[in-house]
Amino acid sequence: MPALIGTDLLEAARLLRAGQVVAIPTETVYGLAANAFDEAAVVRVFETKQRPAFDPLIVHVKDRNQLERVAVVPAEAEPLIARFWPGPLTLVLPKRPEVPDLVTSGLDTVAVRMPAHPLTQELLALLDFPLAAPSANPFGYVSPTTAQHVADQLGDRIPYILDGGPCDVGVESTIIAWDGVGSWSLLRQGGVKQEDLEPFTGPLHQPVSTERPTAPGMLESHYAPRTPVHVGEVPALLQRFARRSVGVISFRTTYPASRCEVLSPSGDLSEAARHLFAALRALDASGCEVILAEVFPEEGLGRAINDRLRRAAANRG
Ligand code: TXA
Ligand code: MG
Repeated sequence: MPALIGTDLLEAARLLRAGQVVAIPTETVYGLAANAFDEAAVVRVFETKQRPAFDPLIVHVKDRNQLERVAVVPAEAEPLIARFWPGPLTLVLPKRPEVPDLVTSGLDTVAVRMPAHPLTQELLALLDFPLAAPSANPFGYVSPTTAQHVADQLGDRIPYILDGGPCDVGVESTIIAWDGVGSWSLLRQGGVKQEDLEPFTGPLHQPVSTERPTAPGMLESHYAPRTPVHVGEVPALLQRFARRSVGVISFRTTYPASRCEVLSPSGDLSEAARHLFAALRALDASGCEVILAEVFPEEGLGRAINDRLRRAAANRG
């Protein structure tokens, strides 16, 4: 039976209490949620998105009590929590034993955040457990920013999709990790700007990705549509692919291509981030042979956009 799409919070809560997987809206992207304390339910999340067990999940909490149940909170995290929660910031902190190893892929840290979407906040308020949730896409594909995106790919594998409308932020949360001693590192660019974090964290550096990365969101080929993606100077790329059917992703310029997705005609990077994944999906579904994307200004949400586009283009000819 295909998933029902709706706004029935009681039904979503009932399914989650019964150990089922439910897609939930967040301000960043849709998540594929399960009771974080129920190992069998968490196994279903990994199976549903065919995610390798070495890639740990983010735990979504409703309040301070739940945060303390899952993580040990250093004093240095307090100003970040006060300033950025609820919101698109994930903190990697020492984990508490109550969190199953499966959630954290055996790591002694847990990624945790408090989502800002009102519907998911209401859902969490109905539950007495936090929700482990990765983005609600098949592993390696572009994250969903509408309920329909979830239904398109996972609709026949889950019973319910809670519809909270299009996501406000449109790219995943920013992830920073506490080293247990005195500093933070940046594991993933995302919805909170690096410029806004650094006054609280000091200068942030991104560790280079490896075979078994600390944040597999750092895996090179991730967030990738099926159509090959090339990132660079669009006019030059248009010449190179002149005889092909081409889709373009641009910031504010309309290019002469079979299809051109302009992410923000007014030049607003946050608006561009909000539209990025829907544009990639639309071009992927349009039948064009290649997707060409501009390099965005490397500031604010532009950093997360460039990161996702670079990964979408990784390992492609
Ligand atoms: O905005 C978001 O963060 C969305 C919404 C649904 O909350 N979630 C999301 O989850 O993007 P996911 O699973 O697609 O990406 C989470 C990333 C993964 O790359 C994972 O490797 C990393 O977080 N991660 C989770 N736990 C970690 C840990 N203990 N240490 C380092 N990285 C961790
Ligand atoms: Mg993901």
